[in-house]
Amino acid sequence: MDLTNFLSLAILVLAASAVSWDATPFNPASVPLAVRSPYLSAWLPQGAGTPLNGAWPQFWTGSILGWAGYIRVDGDTYTFLGDPVVAGAKSAVQKSLEFTSTQSIFVMTAGPVDINVNFLSPVEPTDLLRQSIPFSYLALSAVSNDGGSHNVSVYTDISAEWVSGDDSLTVNWTTTTGNILTHQVMLENQELFTEHSDHIQQGAAYYSTLNSSSVTYQTGQDAVVRAQFINNGVLANTEDPNFRAVSDNWPVFAFAHDLGIVSTIATAPVIYTVGHVRDPAIQYIVANDVYQPRSVYFWSAYSSVADLISDFVVDYSAALGRAQAFDQKVQSDASAISSNYANVVALSVRQAFGALELTLSKNSDGSWNTDDILMFLKEISSDGNVNTVDVIMPAWPVLLYTNPTLGKYLLLGLLEYQATGQYPNAWAAHDLGSSYPNATGHNAGNDEAMPLEECGNMLIMVLSYTQKSNDVSLITQYTDLLNQWTGYLVAEALIPANQISTDDFAGALANQTNLAIKGVIGIQAMSVISSILGNAVDQQNYSSIVQRYVPQILDYATSSDGLHLTLNYGNESSWGLSYNLYADKLLGTNVFPESVYDMQTAWYATVVNTYGVPLDTRHTYTKSDWELWTAAIMTNTTTRDIFIDSVYQYAADGESHQPLGDWYETLNGAVDGFRARPVVGGHFALLAL
Ligand SMILES: *[C@@H]1O[C@H](CO)[C@@H](O)[C@H](O)[C@H]1NC(C)=O
Ligand SMILES: *[C@@H]1O[C@H](CO)[C@@H](O)[C@H](O)[C@H]1NC(C)=O
Ligand SMILES: *[C@@H]1O[C@H](CO)[C@@H](O)[C@H](O)[C@H]1NC(C)=O
Ligand SMILES: *[C@@H]1O[C@H](CO)[C@@H](O)[C@H](O)[C@H]1NC(C)=O
Ligand SMILES: *[C@@H]1O[C@H](CO)[C@@H](O)[C@H](O)[C@H]1NC(C)=O
Ligand SMILES: *[C@@H]1O[C@H](CO)[C@@H](O)[C@H](O)[C@H]1NC(C)=O
Ligand SMILES: *[C@@H]1O[C@H](CO)[C@@H](O)[C@H](O)[C@H]1NC(C)=O
Ligand SMILES: *[C@@H]1O[C@H](CO)[C@@H](O)[C@H](O)[C@H]1NC(C)=O
Repeated sequence: MDLTNFLSLAILVLAASAVSWDATPFNPASVPLAVRSPYLSAWLPQGAGTPLNGAWPQFWTGSILGWAGYIRVDGDTYTFLGDPVVAGAKSAVQKSLEFTSTQSIFVMTAGPVDINVNFLSPVEPTDLLRQSIPFSYLALSAVSNDGGSHNVSVYTDISAEWVSGDDSLTVNWTTTTGNILTHQVMLENQELFTEHSDHIQQGAAYYSTLNSSSVTYQTGQDAVVRAQFINNGVLANTEDPNFRAVSDNWPVFAFAHDLGIVSTIATAPVIYTVGHVRDPAIQYIVANDVYQPRSVYFWSAYSSVADLISDFVVDYSAALGRAQAFDQKVQSDASAISSNYANVVALSVRQAFGALELTLSKNSDGSWNTDDILMFLKEISSDGNVNTVDVIMPAWPVLLYTNPTLGKYLLLGLLEYQATGQYPNAWAAHDLGSSYPNATGHNAGNDEAMPLEECGNMLIMVLSYTQKSNDVSLITQYTDLLNQWTGYLVAEALIPANQISTDDFAGALANQTNLAIKGVIGIQAMSVISSILGNAVDQQNYSSIVQRYVPQILDYATSSDGLHLTLNYGNESSWGLSYNLYADKLLGTNVFPESVYDMQTAWYATVVNTYGVPLDTRHTYTKSDWELWTAAIMTNTTTRDIFIDSVYQYAADGESHQPLGDWYETLNGAVDGFRARPVVGGHFALLAL
């Protein structure tokens, strides 16, 4: 056993021993429960380990999302979900937690019965309709653990916290009965496209289950409804008529199921679905400063939320089958690299997809324009920008791996907007709007300027999409814009001005080597694009510029001892993660010689801290996405695995309570400011090559 394997094993043992339940593959900082959109984002915070009934689920920001669960066994009631304080219930004991790319599965022991609690957030990258559905499943199944038979019923509810960032606001609700039972709750004062503490103040939350003779429901004050179940095992089939504030005697929306006599054969699962729907979802700037309302893609197939829910509820077992196939594919592809790698990417999938929304516009006759598909991304936590280019770029590998066409739908909004001519700068815009869900552009040109960063990113992503899809539509339609951005790079990439890169928190710096690298790969990307378009003059022009620039950049940026690239030209003692070289491999442009990769690979092995290689010499922090982009370009497998194992060790270190933060300290594994950002899609860097 070499040192790295020994370290990985030691880490596994450490992670497993920190909690009292079996954690497979490990206990993460926060467990995804229902994570499907920027506004349907429920997590269970962990720290050193928190059982499913040890805390309330939280929105990604950390605000509480009431979601309670009880199981009643032979007259004794146990809490298994959330942290309700109502007399008469004991606590189930968590036996295990397992997560995959799409599922988080808990087993909780309630006396003589175990309850299996499966939170499934589907990820369906090649099925736009299903991918667009902002709903998630909770499936419960019970089994006797003592060989005996027991009378079991189960209960769950949600609170109105799912629809507002301000608990003092008034909500109203309805329960619809019939084949499917649905509780709907919404803010009485709807505010279009408006957020409060990152919660959308528009639309409604839906909690549903299939009806049968063993189902009861109730809405009302939390303590009252929960006590009704604790004491009786059934609900009253009544609705609370008194609409009030979220926190005014906390209204909850509950269902109970009588599972009957449960033996050592697990019961068929009881299915609940939870979702959040708003319409229109996005406003998007088109020509002449007109704002176009856009709806979530699923509306092209459903005329009501009730119809959508009916299909979604009964689709559970098929959805589970598809999810298991997806999980298995990710697991098997990533395991070919390493098991630690497979574990990190599995944790990253729902987080990456949970920032995305697929949308449509309407034709003038009111019908859906299914040719006008745009995907939107909320940057999340670092700020609320829409389609931030340098957030799409790090996340890009998960899109390439799962379905490059999703990447096209993310880029299209940016390309269309800039092609209208309303964005005044010569370089590529940073984002499509400062506050999600307002994709209203930056006609004043005062977006956060990252000129080299974003020009390079757009060219790299457009070529990458074209190569993976063999679809030339983007390069054909937006050739002028792409040439314009290339012109900027030709003028500015060799001697980068004092500007920020995507790592804006590290500050601005002149002559950043990594920006020069990105810029020159961007120019070469346009040479390849020109060649695909049959424009031999531009192809030749751009590639000859690149051939001129590369030796100059290497001359400016290589330390005089020849051991590493510098962070910025001329600063001998500086260095940084040259993650932008990844694009050279991804595109197959081979702009930089292999000797540069060998040099960087050898160097990083000498500067690694306990939790990885620092982002650069200005600080000891790093970024998990860039660690794994860098891992992907290492020419030595041992060094590659040091990067992977560092990120794994950080993700499993039990120090954080928040959805995986990509920005963290290499000395002690402490998380820095970010959480729940889609950039963890970049953990797929090795699989996208
Ligand atoms: C649920 O279904 C049962 C029969 O399966 C029916 O008796 C009952 O009325 C339904 N409940 C509601 C609330 O629709
Ligand atoms: C709840 O409030 C919304 C928005 O004001 C309104 O459209 C809806 O009719 C109300 N629903 C009920 C049941 O009062
Ligand atoms: C989006 O724009 C609307 C005005 O069109 C405004 O009311 C709303 O507050 C904005 N949303 C955010 C999140 O800034
Ligand atoms: C099981 O318990 C429920 C209440 O929790 C009760 O209504 C039902 O009669 C019980 N069934 C049996 C077979 O004891
Ligand atoms: C090559 O491209 C640069 C940048 O766009 C441009 O300024 C220059 O005129 C081009 N040269 C030729 C020969 O096309
Ligand atoms: C950037 O690097 C170039 C080439 O070494 C040098 O001429 C220039 O002075 C540097 N600019 C700054 C601000 O350091
Ligand atoms: C060189 O880089 C180091 C580490 O980033 C930094 O502390 C130092 O200030 C830099 N020196 C100059 C002259 O910029
Ligand atoms: C790879 O790097 C490790 C140290 O990180 C070193 O021991 C090993 O010799 C290197 N292998 C090759 C083939 O260079």
